[in-house]
Amino acid sequence: MDDTRIQQAKARFGIIGNAPALIKAVGRALRVAPIDLSVLVTGESGSGKEFFPAIIHQYSPRKHAKYIAVNCGAIPEGTIDSELFGHEKGAFTGAVTSRKGYFEEANGGTIFLDEVAELPLTTQARLLRVLETGEYIKVGSSEVQKTNIRVVAATNVNLLRAVAEGRFREDLYYRLATVVIDVPPLRDRGNDILLLSRKFAADFSEKNHTPLITFSDEARERLLAYRWPGNVRQLKNVIEQMALFEAGNEITVETLAEYLPHVSTTMMPALRITPTLPAPQGLAHDTHTYEREREMLFSLIFKMRKEIEQLREDVDRLRDTLSPKSLVKIHPPLIDTPAEILDARAEEVSRDDTAVSRSDTTPRYDSLPEKEAIQLALTRNSGRRKAAAEELGISERTLYRKIKEYALE
Ligand SMILES: Nc1ncnc2c1ncn2[C@@H]1O[C@H](COP(=O)(O)OP(=O)(O)O)[C@@H](O)[C@H]1O
Ligand SMILES: [Mg+2]
Repeated sequence: MDDTRIQQAKARFGIIGNAPALIKAVGRALRVAPIDLSVLVTGESGSGKEFFPAIIHQYSPRKHAKYIAVNCGAIPEGTIDSELFGHEKGAFTGAVTSRKGYFEEANGGTIFLDEVAELPLTTQARLLRVLETGEYIKVGSSEVQKTNIRVVAATNVNLLRAVAEGRFREDLYYRLATVVIDVPPLRDRGNDILLLSRKFAADFSEKNHTPLITFSDEARERLLAYRWPGNVRQLKNVIEQMALFEAGNEITVETLAEYLPHVSTTMMPALRITPTLPAPQGLAHDTHTYEREREMLFSLIFKMRKEIEQLREDVDRLRDTLSPKSLVKIHPPLIDTPAEILDARAEEVSRDDTAVSRSDTTPRYDSLPEKEAIQLALTRNSGRRKAAAEELGISERTLYRKIKEYALE
């Protein structure tokens, strides 16, 4: 994919970052855009998945028709069929008029199904039919309707695992995942973290006429080393809070610790040696040595991070050989190099649940019984369900259901 086209698309949609995996994702979106295939966008929550269906729509011949984004996790199970496919008057109590569904409304255009793994199995069956034949039936009707729609779906869960567990239809998975675009987690984007920090800080002060914040070297290192479980959404949130309450200040590690959960200033004591203490007589090289020591420690930490990443990849690969990867092989991808797509699919194993990467931040929920994990997440987030759900890596709706199920709160 031509690099200037990628840069143009990034500028047009306000996408910041130059990490190769991000560039690759944008390039794939541009390449598949004019070809009428379903696309599946995968990536952790907050990583920026929503740009991709919009890019695909805007660079496709459907760009003058409608684009509708539906968050499948936010619609109650009871009404989702009617929202997507419409209903006839009298189809159920309260259906006083007939209603158009999104598949009718967006006819000729693109529909973005966000959190697609949350679709109930019955809706999945309807969706498969409309993808295969363009046909659907309104709720309460017997008449077959036709629509011409391109579907782009997104998920932050491992759909192959959902297939293996019987929560997602295998045939629908292959329909949707003809082309997979994997959005990398923020922690893997290196210097993009700083680019985004500066951008969010600058946007905030421009919009609100506040003096700009700056970052100390150490604070920058911490931003780079942090795990960012909430990805770009979390970074934006943290930077905006600091831009407000620390307007005009230099952000130090100490300030950062106030805004970033689990960044403690005492986490790595060696790194906190500051040359403020008077050096003992005769040791005039103090600051210099401290700087160098610090540098060495940082490079050590980065090396360790690399090794952990390597380990994580090995674990993922190992898990893939044990899980239904064989399924991937019997369905050859239709476009692009097969190896690339197979890779993208194989990489889908969510990183969130890889124990080794769960360092010091989010608790290891996967090692707890479900009820306890939910209780802990709710407590940690002071009862805010949205935040708790994000931390647990489940949808808000699933969380509501579980809270009821376990009679929590
Ligand atoms: N590369 C990026 N450059 C600028 N803003 C970004 C980038 N990635 C994500 N964002 C912003 O982060 C927030 C979360 O992105 P979103 O697409 O909603 O995440 P997801 O759908 O993957 O959960 C949005 O405000 C989005 O604009
Ligand atoms: Mg989203």
